[in-house]
Amino acid sequence: MKYDFDQVIDRSANRAAKYDERIKKFGTNDVIPLWVADMDFKTAQPIIDALKSKAEEGIWGYTSRPDSYFDAICSWQQRRNGWQIDKSLVSWSLGVVPALSAIVKVFTNPDDKVMIQTPVYSEFYDVTEAWGRVVVENQLVEQGGRWTIDFADFERKAKEVKVFLLCSPHNPLGIVWTKEQLKKMADICIANNVLLVSDEIHSDLIFHGKKHIPTATVSKEIAGKVISCISGTKTFNLAGLQASTTVFPDLETKERFDRFWTNMDIHRNNAFSSVAMEAAFNEGEEWLEQLLIYLDGNFEYVRSFCEKRIPQIKVNVPDATYLMWLDCRGLNMDNETLRTFMIEKAGLGLNEGYTFGRSLSGYMRLNAACPRSILEQAMKQLKEAVDANT
Ligand SMILES: Cc1ncc(COP(=O)(O)O)c(C=O)c1O
Repeated sequence: MKYDFDQVIDRSANRAAKYDERIKKFGTNDVIPLWVADMDFKTAQPIIDALKSKAEEGIWGYTSRPDSYFDAICSWQQRRNGWQIDKSLVSWSLGVVPALSAIVKVFTNPDDKVMIQTPVYSEFYDVTEAWGRVVVENQLVEQGGRWTIDFADFERKAKEVKVFLLCSPHNPLGIVWTKEQLKKMADICIANNVLLVSDEIHSDLIFHGKKHIPTATVSKEIAGKVISCISGTKTFNLAGLQASTTVFPDLETKERFDRFWTNMDIHRNNAFSSVAMEAAFNEGEEWLEQLLIYLDGNFEYVRSFCEKRIPQIKVNVPDATYLMWLDCRGLNMDNETLRTFMIEKAGLGLNEGYTFGRSLSGYMRLNAACPRSILEQAMKQLKEAVDANT
């Protein structure tokens, strides 16, 4: 089946946080929402069909998780990433962020330190600080437009932290970490008794011939130490269904995590999420392959538009995710001025760069997962605003 990603879908009655929460986030509805990480595309037809059929059942009582659900997850990982997951070490959770939060709570104590690589998905700060733990930043360093790891700093800080939250692939920089980088980070964590947690939610959204390597596949020793968080919600645009998978290094670690959720009486999927995930992992590949080509076209559109027409803004084309990191330092604005400029002058609802790395100034994140015509309008508005400002 051929999917039409150019189709503009009216989400005004879709209860879409991306649209409905614009007033809360930006103070106005009058912005093109290119912020929170979901897509303005319909998902794969087999998922829609499976959910329709579930809806037709008319009974959505307490819902079990059949083996076929876990089989679908494991066979997807095996097929696409060569990762053979031991099913006995797999647990379910409401989402990757709830899983990360539970991990921080269960495996650390108040005032313990948690390392993150900034700029990074801002909830990494939140899940740490919410429990009274302390964020330690291993800041990624930019060299000629490419970002990389300061390993000397990483090694120094690994000596003082209990947990390292790795974002692989990386949001917002779209980096696909190499096997060597993963091994080096994991080895340092193991040597310093740091619990390694690998958030791989974006691992199906990979471009430019890169290959995602699940951290747990780097070596047997690392598999015995890492907690991996995976999900189909980013891949297939199912975030509102709230489900994710956590893979543990051993049974004892898994049981401690499971006990946390059982104590909260949260131990079942909602009736629709496992059905959607199963259909996605078993039958979603055709849609995904077409999506990746479309997204890559979107990246190229934004990159070349800015290069030719808004040279003050330098665009990072991601190798993973659908999120583009915009270096707006050429506009010479402080963070607050840049935020106001994007909302009030350009009419764009973007994420502020400083929420991903608190010491950063002059960056924004743009979600490119929308029909090209929306991006065209967004770029036009941005150019006009920049021109009017100079
Ligand atoms: C790195 C990363 N982890 C987790 C999430 C959200 O996960 P969930 O919706 O499963 O809680 C996002 C969403 O943007 C993300 O970018």
